[in-house]
Amino acid sequence: MDGVTVIDHPLVQHKLTIMRKKETSTAGFRRLLREISTLLCYEVTRDLELTMETIETPLQEMQSPVLEGKKLVFASILRAGNGLLEGMLELVPSARVSHIGVYRDHETLQAVEYFFKAPDDIAERLIIVVDPMLATGNSAIAAIDKLKERGAHNIRFLCLLAAPEGIESFRKHHPDVPVYTASIDSHLNENGYIVPGLGDAGDRMYGTK
Ligand code: URA
Repeated sequence: MDGVTVIDHPLVQHKLTIMRKKETSTAGFRRLLREISTLLCYEVTRDLELTMETIETPLQEMQSPVLEGKKLVFASILRAGNGLLEGMLELVPSARVSHIGVYRDHETLQAVEYFFKAPDDIAERLIIVVDPMLATGNSAIAAIDKLKERGAHNIRFLCLLAAPEGIESFRKHHPDVPVYTASIDSHLNENGYIVPGLGDAGDRMYGTK
């Protein structure tokens, strides 16, 4: 699918299978999410630009590659996005973090922003927006609308599972934002859950109902 990368690394697929199982405990789910997010982070950053820097090893001077440009921003869509942050920050500890809270107003059906924090200079940084589930796509679309309103234009979206319906809507609204996911599942059910999915990601990682 155009603009969509399915991360099919065997470790990612194996861990995802355990996360899907209904008998996986909250502690197990959380640990796997941290592990899998490290692997997802590796894949979503694999084509970042490098620049050469002059350094000195104990033996001699050399030109060696380092990441080009400003530090990355990981933007977490609250609350489940936070589950992906931990592992990603382990891999890129210098990344800046943005938190975005959006909810759907039942009357207007519009996405309403209730929390937004991001570095001032997001226009100059690569932003990786994270949310484990791309279901209807509405929160991801709204969160990226908010980032773009503040000047962001270099954005990628990373999730664990996506529904075809969510991908279609997301790509229609933000064709410039590539999507990375570990799986494209069958469909969305009438309650907006991804099928077969893994249930409510926030509830599974925090042990709520
Ligand atoms: N959000 C979830 O946590 N799970 C789904 O299946 C859909 C949206």
